[in-house]
Amino acid sequence: MQLLDGKFASEKIKQEIAAEAADFLAKSGRKPHLIAILVGNDGGSETYVASKMKNCEKVGFQSSLIRYDVTVTEAELLQKIEEINQDAGVDGLIVQLPLPKHIDPEKVTEKIDYRKDVDGFHPVNLGRMMRNLPCFIPATPYGILLMLQAYQIDTTGKHCVVVGRSNIVGSPMSILMARNANPGNCTVTLTHSKTSNLKELVLQADIIVAAIGKKNFVTADMVKPGAIIIDVGINRETSDQTKSGYKLYGDVDFEHVAAKSSWITPVPGGVGLMTIVGLLKNTLASAKGEIYS
Ligand code: GUN
Repeated sequence: MQLLDGKFASEKIKQEIAAEAADFLAKSGRKPHLIAILVGNDGGSETYVASKMKNCEKVGFQSSLIRYDVTVTEAELLQKIEEINQDAGVDGLIVQLPLPKHIDPEKVTEKIDYRKDVDGFHPVNLGRMMRNLPCFIPATPYGILLMLQAYQIDTTGKHCVVVGRSNIVGSPMSILMARNANPGNCTVTLTHSKTSNLKELVLQADIIVAAIGKKNFVTADMVKPGAIIIDVGINRETSDQTKSGYKLYGDVDFEHVAAKSSWITPVPGGVGLMTIVGLLKNTLASAKGEIYS
């Protein structure tokens, strides 16, 4: 078993991003600028957004956090997005999900100008991704591709089984792994909570992408010896044994699966760190006009 180390891979790529951001500043007189909108006080979202902002500063980006109370109206939020869409000094805008129930995430996602949609959630970006055209790739799938690239894992001809069909990870990941690209060129099976023969399918996988949001869902008896394991799960549980008061668990039973795998991502310290790198790369590409000019 070898570790796909998100700390190692993300630090290396962030150094490259920082160098490019410095070059962009020298040429344009400004830093790439990312705005994040956070509604409410969800513990996980607070942590993720704080980490995104901190990493922007680390690589020499400008970052702005706009916070709203959980009672903000949908109209107010959409109005703010419109304002940011019009601001030429902003390269990327993300609205952290999930949102409170009275706000329609589809309306919010579609309101963001697709040219600033560095989360890659807008239908234009997803559609362009399907067609293998330049686009913002959703940050977590993008981070996974960067991880596979960093460790020079050849995916061609492999059977990739994705567990989970979310808009954010599972669905886009299944498309990306099937594309005629590297990483890519896999035979992909997309499984989910209603898949009847899930274990049988996962057992056939050369590459497992676990993104179902259930602690230790993928167990050792579901894994073929030598498989590559990508664990996207970030399941938080309160704990009196940690300083933060909570502990993170992946969707994979790491303790028992690791010994059977050839490569595996840890949680924490794996895909989560790469998601931020995906977001930073999208923001830089937006600033440089590399996707849309
Ligand atoms: N919630 C969970 N993952 C993400 C993400 O990648 N982007 C946003 N905006 N919200 C999320």
